[in-house]
Amino acid sequence: MSAYSEQSVIAKIEKLRSELHRHNYRYYVLDDPEISDAEYDRMIQELIALETAHPELASPDSPSARVGAAPLEKFETVQHSVPMLSLDNGVSDADILDFDKRVKKNLDTSDNILYTAEPKMDGLAVEMVYENGRLITASTRGDGVKGEVITENIRTIRSVPLLLREQSAEKMPRYLEVRGEVFMGRETFRQLNEERLKANVPVFANPRNAAAGSLRQLDPRETAKRPLEIYCYGLGKAEGFVSDSHWERLQILKRLGFRINPMIRAKISIQEVLDYYQELSQKRHELHYDIDGMVIKVDSLSLQAELGATSRSPRWAIAYKFSAIQKTTKIIDIGIQVGRTGALTPVAHLEPVNIAGVTVSRATLHNEDEIRRKDIRIGDAVLVQRAGDVIPEVVKVIESARTGAEKEFVMPKQCPVCGAAVYREKDEAVQRCNNINCSAQIKARIRHFASKAAFDIDGLGEKLIEQLVNKGMLLSYADIFSLKKEQLQSLERMGPKSAENLIRAIENSRRISFDRFIYALGIRHVGENIADILAEKFENPEKLSSADVADVESIDGIGPEIAESIRNFFEQEENRNTLNRLMASGVEILTENKPKQNLLEGKTFVLTGTLESMTRNEAKEKIEAAGGKVSSSVSRNTDYVVAGKDPGSKLDKAVKIGIQIIDEKMLQELTAEKR
Ligand code: IVH
Repeated sequence: MSAYSEQSVIAKIEKLRSELHRHNYRYYVLDDPEISDAEYDRMIQELIALETAHPELASPDSPSARVGAAPLEKFETVQHSVPMLSLDNGVSDADILDFDKRVKKNLDTSDNILYTAEPKMDGLAVEMVYENGRLITASTRGDGVKGEVITENIRTIRSVPLLLREQSAEKMPRYLEVRGEVFMGRETFRQLNEERLKANVPVFANPRNAAAGSLRQLDPRETAKRPLEIYCYGLGKAEGFVSDSHWERLQILKRLGFRINPMIRAKISIQEVLDYYQELSQKRHELHYDIDGMVIKVDSLSLQAELGATSRSPRWAIAYKFSAIQKTTKIIDIGIQVGRTGALTPVAHLEPVNIAGVTVSRATLHNEDEIRRKDIRIGDAVLVQRAGDVIPEVVKVIESARTGAEKEFVMPKQCPVCGAAVYREKDEAVQRCNNINCSAQIKARIRHFASKAAFDIDGLGEKLIEQLVNKGMLLSYADIFSLKKEQLQSLERMGPKSAENLIRAIENSRRISFDRFIYALGIRHVGENIADILAEKFENPEKLSSADVADVESIDGIGPEIAESIRNFFEQEENRNTLNRLMASGVEILTENKPKQNLLEGKTFVLTGTLESMTRNEAKEKIEAAGGKVSSSVSRNTDYVVAGKDPGSKLDKAVKIGIQIIDEKMLQELTAEKR
C-alpha cells in the first residue's frame, strides 16, 4: 500500500472515531442525539471494516472497542488510591434531620448547610482511571480497599467515555479517578431474562444482580451483549479540580464527557432535601432504572474534608433509603436458629415470594414475645417486608384469612441443637441456650469471625465451618490459624488446590485492623460501630481486656449495658484463653487504620512561606504520617500548596495552574487524627 493511501486511511479512521465519540457524547451524556441509530451503526460498521483491514491501526480508545476484547483467565485486583467507602443509612425524616444536626455540631456552626441530593442507583460502584484523557483502568468497589480490574468490561459500556472530550491542553486533567454506579435498565433486564428463559439458563432475580453478573464476565464480549449504563457521582484521586463544590465538580465531569444523573438537585437546604425525597419516592417508578433511595451530600468540599470519615463511611453523606416493600405469603412452619451468643431465634419458613426482585422464603420472628404480640401462628397468611439488604420480617398476620387450622407455636425448653436447658435473663425477651460449647453457637461464632466485616476469610463459608466443627477440627475461632492443608484435604469437596487457597486466605487475614479484630471477637452488643469506638480508645487488646467498666462507660456512645457486656466477656477465662491463643498464633494488629491517614494517601503537598504553629519538618512529618508526600516544587502533580506567612513564588505558580491552596489550619485539619 502506498504511503498516500495509508495516510488517507489514517485520516478516515481518525475522523470516524472522533465523530463517533461526539455522537456518543450527544446521545448518552447530553441525551440529545444528532443522528439516527441506523446512521450511528453505519458509521461504526465502516470503522470496524477499516480497522479490520488495518489491524496495525487498532486502538483501545476506539469506539469500536466497545464490542469487547479477548477473554481473561481471571480478574486481577487493585488497591484504590482513596478507599471507596460506603454510606450510613437513614429511613425516616427524623434520621435525616439528625444527620443535619450532627453535621452542624461537628462543624461547630449554626449556619444552614447546603446539600446536594442524588438518586441512589441500585447497581454497582466502580472506579475508572484516566491518564492524559484516556481510560486506563477500571475496577469494582470490592471491599472498598481493593477491587477487581474490569477495564475491558467497562469499555463496553457506551456511556463511559474512552477518551475525555478535548479541552485546551491546559484543562485536560493529567490524572483522574472517577466513580460511579453501573446499572442495568429495567427494560434491558426484562429482555435479558426473556432471552435467558428461552435459552434455558437461570434468570436474574433483579436488575442489580444482572448488572453484577454482566460486569463480572471474564469474556468482555459477553458483557458487551448486555447493555449496561453508568451515572458518575464522584471522584477519587484527581488533579486540577479546583472548585470547592461537589455539584460544580459534577458539572466539570459532565463537560469532560461523563454521564451525570439529570435528577440531581444541587445546593438545597435540609428541608428542601426532605421535600425532594417525597418527590423522588413518587417519581421512582417512572424512571427507566431502579433506585433504592437518595444520597444526601454536604456540597462544600472543604466542609467535607473538615467532617472527615470513619473507617466505613463519610460523615458528610447519608443514604435516605426508600421504605420497605411488602407482600403477602403464608407461614409453612416455624423453626429455631441458634446464634453465636446462644440466642434462640424463631424463624418463619415461608411459601417463597418475590419481593422487589428477591425470593424470600424465610423471615425472622425475633423472639417469643414478638410472636405473641403479633399473634403469629403456623399456617397464617402474613404480610412480609424487606427493606433493602435487611433481613425480611413479618409485619402482621392477615386475620381475616384464618381458617381455624392454624397452630400456635411454642418455644422449646431445650436447645434444639445440643439439648441444653434454655434460659431467659430478666428484662430480656430472648431465650438462650445455656451451653457455650453448643455446636450451633461455636459455628455461628466462627462464621461471624470469618465474615467480611471481621477477618474476611475468603472461602471459609457456612458449609465448610459446619464440617470443620462436626469433625472436631475447629473447637473455637482461635483454632483457625493452626489449620493445616493436609487436614483440610480430608474434607468433602476439598481438593489440594482449594485447600491451598483456603490456607492462603487464612494467612492473608492474619493482619487486621484493631476495630475489625474487636468486632470479630463476637462480644454481645459490640457491632461494627462500637468496635470502631473501642479501637480508637484502647489501641490494643491488652488495654481493652484490662479496662474496667467505668473506663468503658465513660466513652461517648457507650452505655452501661455494653460496658457490662464487654467486662463480662473478658472476665471469662475461656475468652481470655481464646484471646491469648489468637495472639500467639500470629494475628497481627495493624495500628494505622486511622481514616484520616488514608485520606491523604497519594496526595502531594508543597510548603511555602513561614508556618507559625509548627516547623516545616513537623508539617512534613504530619503529612507523611497521614499518607501524603511533600515535594519541593509546584507542578501539575501537586494536590495542595500550604501557604504560610510571606509565601514565595511557589504560591504564584500554584494560583496560575489552579492548585488548591490551603492554610495551616486546614493542614492541621487534614492531618488531624480526629474522628
Ligand atoms: S456516593 C462515600 N452517590 O451506594 C460516598 N453512592 O451505600 C459513597 N450509590 O457504594 C458513594 N448512587 O455504590 C454515592 N449518587 C450516589 C450513589 C451511590 C448509588 C451506591 C454506591 C455506594 C453505595 C453506598
